[in-house]
Amino acid sequence: MSFLLSILAAAVINVIPAPAEVKPGDGEFQLRFFTCIKAESPEAAEVARTVAPKLRKASGRILPVRRHRGRIELRLDPACGIPDEGYRLSVTTDGVCALASGRAGLFYALQTLLQMTDGKRIPCADISDAPRFAWRGFHIDPVRHFLSPDAIRKQIDILSEYKINTMHWHLTDDQGWRIEIKKHPRLTEVGAWRTEFDGSVHGGFYTQEEVRSLVDYAARRCVTIVPEIEMPGHAFAAVCSYPELSCRGEQFRTLYTWGSPHDVFCVGSEKVYEFLDDVISEVAGLFPGEYIHIGGDECHKDVWEQCPICQERIRELGLEADAEFTAGEKLQSYAVHRMEEILARHGKKLIGWDEILQGGLSPGAAVMSWRGEEGGKKAALSGHYVVMTPGSGGMYFDHYQGDPKIEPVTIGGRSTLEKVYSYDPVPDVLRENGKDGFVKGVQCNNWAEYMYSESQREYMLFPRAFALAEIAWTRPERKDFDSFLTRCDLACKRLDALGVNYHIPLPEQPDGSCNSLAFSDSCTVELGTTRPLRIVFTTDGSEPSADSPEYSEPLTFTDDAVLKAASVLPWGRLSPVRTIRLRKMSPMPAMRPEDVFGLRARRTEGRFISAGDIPAGAVWTPVELSALGEAGKLEPYDNKLPDSTRFYAAEAEGCFRVPETGTFRFSSDCDRVWIDGQLLIDNGGAVKRSSHNDAELVLEAGAHNYKVLFIYNVIGGWISLRSRCDVLFRQPGSESWTSVAGDSARLID
Ligand code: ACM
Ligand code: ZN
Repeated sequence: MSFLLSILAAAVINVIPAPAEVKPGDGEFQLRFFTCIKAESPEAAEVARTVAPKLRKASGRILPVRRHRGRIELRLDPACGIPDEGYRLSVTTDGVCALASGRAGLFYALQTLLQMTDGKRIPCADISDAPRFAWRGFHIDPVRHFLSPDAIRKQIDILSEYKINTMHWHLTDDQGWRIEIKKHPRLTEVGAWRTEFDGSVHGGFYTQEEVRSLVDYAARRCVTIVPEIEMPGHAFAAVCSYPELSCRGEQFRTLYTWGSPHDVFCVGSEKVYEFLDDVISEVAGLFPGEYIHIGGDECHKDVWEQCPICQERIRELGLEADAEFTAGEKLQSYAVHRMEEILARHGKKLIGWDEILQGGLSPGAAVMSWRGEEGGKKAALSGHYVVMTPGSGGMYFDHYQGDPKIEPVTIGGRSTLEKVYSYDPVPDVLRENGKDGFVKGVQCNNWAEYMYSESQREYMLFPRAFALAEIAWTRPERKDFDSFLTRCDLACKRLDALGVNYHIPLPEQPDGSCNSLAFSDSCTVELGTTRPLRIVFTTDGSEPSADSPEYSEPLTFTDDAVLKAASVLPWGRLSPVRTIRLRKMSPMPAMRPEDVFGLRARRTEGRFISAGDIPAGAVWTPVELSALGEAGKLEPYDNKLPDSTRFYAAEAEGCFRVPETGTFRFSSDCDRVWIDGQLLIDNGGAVKRSSHNDAELVLEAGAHNYKVLFIYNVIGGWISLRSRCDVLFRQPGSESWTSVAGDSARLID
């Protein structure tokens, strides 16, 4: 069959990931009332029993599993020559036969079958399939926000349908310790909990019983769980539980903000290795897989420099800085080598983030390349296994999938569905050097700082996980984005049936999405989506439906209007509706030169979430500032000692100049912004990680005044001090933003 025909066939059977080889046949196999599944071996029967409930649900048939008869036959033959995890699936009008050399292959044959059926019918075809990579991973971060075992089961169950086979479970970090360790109970009595800024308590952990049950649930779905126990950095929850494990031995509280404190494990101390050995001895017994992930990323090394124990260890080992590595990096490398020995004693291999390359890689270690591909290339070229997870390749699913101005807040970055799909985990240099075999696979990372709910996690995971599944399983020559998009739509429809949330591209404005537009004569709104979808809209205030007028060209408005727009999936499901308000207005007059004033500010003390929390009788005291930004930095922040922080609110006002009369768009991470006395932006209570409420005004050329309300607080783990206390503006169509702060001084001169 020609390549094109086989792509078409793969599309017709609509399976993700696209199988290696598909020969379509004539006709279909009908699932009848009396159709049985034949599984002779106990292993095949176990696979049948795991998957049959889904086939039953799809078909309404009972599909009993029998040892000696059945039209759907599952054959396990270790000598059949089909590669590991691969299968052959033959569907004729008479029956179905799935053949594999191992359990996983049979499981995947049934997943393919499940996606092929429309209920009672399965199209005839001969399929030969096997994966490109052995590690097809997804990562779960229950530390930043806890996730129940049931929610994890749901992810495993769905992702295994798409032949994802590895779950990287990030169990320990600065904001929480999430696995029961019987010998060190304070890890979960203390380290599993944190008190948030608003006084609520967040946390949770998995008991060993729950871990065993999850590992078993995953194994039935051919998913290996790789636990991550972080060292030597990202260990704050551990050192809060047992302060003697850090260099300074101080008692801190589990972190409720994002970022990483400098107090890490005191890797000069034997106590730390004894502790890690205790932890690993329990963890190794719970997870049957060959690898344990030891983290290793983003470890601050400055506290080691002041620590007599760490310095003594550096002297004893003769670790000296050289052109390549600092003494601290070599000490980290020593700690990772010690960890590798501990793992080996408990029968496990080490995998870690690419920082474990610093100071020299342990001989048997595998590397997870996250800071681009460089670490992965270096490790594979020197004969180490690697798993590619670069943010630059779209593998960070905590990044935005659409315009940050209208998507729910994330940590930043961009990873569209197309970017994920176009990633190839094997860099050219490895192929050229015959080292491509060291790329064990590929994985998406789902850091959960900004994933506040299970539904939000699903939104970030789907449909990008479908693209991941295809790049992890399907050979590049079989990939085809257009065909994938068709199959992706069908997979999303299946998610609807399962009650799973997913991202639907919103109508976006190419010049930056903005829901509050202003103009003096007319305004043209252009809309597009990150992948081809129909857009529908209304201008009469009603909610759009799939039958509303279809957007086909930019819309021009000459009067006040409310534009409501949504994208539509092929079966009529709508994205969330965007409401864009357009205001026709005369230019706001410029200030008279004699009214222009310099920067002035005042503050009031207290813990406020938003403007409404500041009491009417609050005492405000004037503050002298030389720049607007200082209003957002009046008090320091020590993320180890949140209780010592003096939170406050500040108001600052001043003047700025616009060069010509016209429309200006404003953007700010402050709580509120007024322009010429008008409240224009209200970010009340929002996570100030990035501005979401841009708004426009028409201004006359000359000076205007601004006022901001900045609140020093922590919302959703984000310390507002890290936001810029500023107001930026630009004319629509202009690439660059200008700060209102820049002009204040000059205007007064
Ligand atoms: C990482 O994202 N810090 C591995
Ligand atoms: Zn130390």
